Amino acid sequence: MKNIAEIGIVGLGARGAFCFGELIQKRNDCRIAAVCDINKVRLKHIAEKFNVSQTYTDLEQMLKKEKLDGLIITTPDAEHEKCAVTALNHGVNILLDKPLATSRQGGLNIIEAAEKSGRIAMMGFNLRHAPLLKKLKEIVDEGVLGRIILIENREFYDGGRTYMSRWNGRKSYSGGLWNHKGSHDFDIFNWLLNFPAPKKVSAFSGMSVFTPDNFPFELENGIQPGPCCSKCYYCQKGICRDSFPVTDENMWGEEAVADDGYRKDSCMYMSDLSVHDNGIAMVEYENGVRASHLECFVCGMSDRFYTVTGNRGLATLRLSGNTIEVIKRWTWEKITYEVSLSHNDLHGGADPILLEAFVETILGKRENKATLEQGLIATTIAEAAELSKEENRTILL
Ligand SMILES: NC(=O)c1ccc[n+]([C@@H]2O[C@H](COP(=O)([O-])OP(=O)(O)OC[C@H]3O[C@@H](n4cnc5c(N)ncnc54)[C@H](O)[C@@H]3O)[C@@H](O)[C@H]2O)c1
Repeated sequence: MKNIAEIGIVGLGARGAFCFGELIQKRNDCRIAAVCDINKVRLKHIAEKFNVSQTYTDLEQMLKKEKLDGLIITTPDAEHEKCAVTALNHGVNILLDKPLATSRQGGLNIIEAAEKSGRIAMMGFNLRHAPLLKKLKEIVDEGVLGRIILIENREFYDGGRTYMSRWNGRKSYSGGLWNHKGSHDFDIFNWLLNFPAPKKVSAFSGMSVFTPDNFPFELENGIQPGPCCSKCYYCQKGICRDSFPVTDENMWGEEAVADDGYRKDSCMYMSDLSVHDNGIAMVEYENGVRASHLECFVCGMSDRFYTVTGNRGLATLRLSGNTIEVIKRWTWEKITYEVSLSHNDLHGGADPILLEAFVETILGKRENKATLEQGLIATTIAEAAELSKEENRTILL
């Protein structure tokens, strides 16, 4: 059995470089053997940052030349299918950041490639590794709440600035935000309930704020905002409170844009967006459990709140905290569970634990517990939620 896993990363943006890349460097059982990004500016910058000499702009080339034990896929969602299938066809184990793909069919194609290759394919559902949610799962599995009947979660994400200014705001790149963002939350429902089949999905969602008639300032003498923060009159004057500064130092400035046209600071009020900025989606499962997920991207906070109700008690938590409160039915007895966290972040301290799970799985020390098939359930719910909104009806699965 190998002691050190040779890891490749494809997609050197926020997740690939600044989450997984940095976390790999802190471990002594893996190393970054090669990196790939279609953007040559980011590729060079990140290769230097991590002192990696093997750099590629084409994944196929990287996989042909390098002998990797695992590939971390952190490209935009619409590239997941192509990258995952390519890696699996080359016989490489993958950690595929959520969501599985931008469509159910895309997900099925990845599953087919994984079956043929027999390689490990792990979903990057990091929230499952958040210590607080792990404890919640334990509480549910031990039957403290009795039989679960209802789950709700609400996510508030101060993500307008990022989501609406780049690829996430376009359905063709993300599959829509029920998929891009909600797949995290649908997966937590599925996981807490031990993966019953979803049967009905209904969703209400829309764009209430990030539209051209909602600038958070008065236009001066008819001067139009946009097209992007770095060129916008109102951002440059410090008038727009949603300005999202990007620079060449942080790899997203004009030099990087000149290479491939991808910018992270498109005006979120003036862009061609095809996603919602707030909504509520509901799921009913084969076992009769109902769940609702609310997501809102117009707010000055980022946090997730959960309530899980069983026929013997109810549990609540907020992800930024370190406690779960259970209130028992009939007696109203309150039990507070404290969970110690080595650190907390937007994902409840989950990312280092997710990376550890992947590395130890490919080194043969443990089993893959986040399968593509589970990823498919989350993407199926998300796709149905998009369809429900589009066709104004409940989708039967
Ligand atoms: N698990 C989580 O909590 C979490 C959080 C944020 C994002 N994500 C996921 O991580 C992935 C990346 O998101 P991000 O925010 O880091 O995006 P990003 O835009 O910051 O970075 C994406 C990078 O991929 C590169 N790229 C695009 N197509 C490519 C291709 N075909 N081959 C090689 N490189 C390519 C881009 O040039 C860019 O550098 C997405 O799938 C997203 O859904 C997961």
